[in-house]
Amino acid sequence: MEQLIIEGEHPLYGEVNINGAKNAAVAIIPAAVMANGKCIIDNLPGIEDISKLVDILTKLGAKCSFDGIHRLIIDSSKIDKYKAYYDSVREIRASYYLLGSLLGRFGRAEVALPGGCNFGDRPIDQHIKGFEAMGAEVYIEHGMVKAYAPNLKGATIYLDVVSVGATINIMLAAVLAKGVTTIENAAKEPHVVDTANFLNMMGAKIKGAGTDVIRIVGVSNLEGVNYTIIPDQIEAGTYMIAGAITGGDIKINNIIPKHMEPLTAKLLEMNCKITEGDDYIRVIAPKELQSTNVKTMVYPGFPTDLQPQMTALMCASNGTSVITENVWESRFQYVNELKRLGGNINVEGRVAVIEGKAKLTGAEVKATDLRAGAALVILGLAAQGKTIINNAKFIDRGYEKIEDKLSSLGAKIIRVKK
Ligand code: EPZ
Repeated sequence: MEQLIIEGEHPLYGEVNINGAKNAAVAIIPAAVMANGKCIIDNLPGIEDISKLVDILTKLGAKCSFDGIHRLIIDSSKIDKYKAYYDSVREIRASYYLLGSLLGRFGRAEVALPGGCNFGDRPIDQHIKGFEAMGAEVYIEHGMVKAYAPNLKGATIYLDVVSVGATINIMLAAVLAKGVTTIENAAKEPHVVDTANFLNMMGAKIKGAGTDVIRIVGVSNLEGVNYTIIPDQIEAGTYMIAGAITGGDIKINNIIPKHMEPLTAKLLEMNCKITEGDDYIRVIAPKELQSTNVKTMVYPGFPTDLQPQMTALMCASNGTSVITENVWESRFQYVNELKRLGGNINVEGRVAVIEGKAKLTGAEVKATDLRAGAALVILGLAAQGKTIINNAKFIDRGYEKIEDKLSSLGAKIIRVKK
């Protein structure tokens, strides 16, 4: 097992570069399965989820090769399988995107029910509802989701909940289907738009990505293309919060500031000073952080994937803060670990009340999922003394070289094997 060990109370100063967006990359790689030719994907993050997904594509018959860490060449022309088994997909939730892309390419797909971060029930009924509306027969057998549709047809699909996964998966299946598909009540996250841009560059006809209604006119062929993934909104936000909690002054480069607006607004309320340019944000922490309230929502609301990191920040602010989690049913399971570092947090259902100005002291803790792990790193940076974070592998699922990036900003953090 690998651990991250942090010696807290060192303010962060300097500049940090943000990698490509994990949640765009994990949709775009499965989308490349449908290309008639080679896809070259740039600005991929060097994280565990990408290598796992590449392994799955290779097992399906694709030829995948990395040119450095951030560029991947995928040749899907030899893919001859449409089944992805549990041993490959259990640790990566986004493997469900293979349902949409394999269904589009072969008219059939079998993918084991996915794993991924565990924060309560993670249904895929809206994905299935979309495939069925397009004429697919879908059932679950021996832990596999099996979808068959020799003649996939466009349909109008209203999503009962705004789901990133269902929006992207239906979009993937629809690009090679016959006729027009309309997704109503669609998710608007930047990675939905990025996946649509990638598909459009391949020759798809998708309009409206980034709004509530996406319209897809089916085409018969998708070409291989060269595409650069957008910057990671959540990695950027994690560093913004890390700068704020340590009383530092950091510039976060290679980002899209517009994607950061929900967080920027909250950091301003907490008294941080923020300046921004075309592709960077600078966060200057105040002498004393003020409390605030946050409700997580679908984009452009405050992202649930920054909720644990924000909870950590609130532990160090002055006054009482409230976070309401509106996206995931049980995404506060990690708070007991923050409490071990001194966080004063009370959770009642979907609401956490955080009493600020807690006395934060280092302790041995464990990451229980990706963003919970990031929250522990953030609180560890502010805590007095040594924090040992077990299960660092969860953090590696979404953050490239987190200890190197934080060290370059002045943090005292190392990785050890236990
Ligand atoms: C994506 O998960 C992200 N993962 C998650 O990021 C993120 O937390 C989530 O979107 C919300 O923004 C990837 O992009 C790979 P959803 P996804 O479908 O697509 C309910 C991270 O830390 N729902 O938008 O699985 C569901 O229960 C990860 O990077 C249904 O009811 O999320 C939830 O309450 C973790 N039926 C809500 O919708 C469905 O069929 C949003 O889920 C699908 C979802």
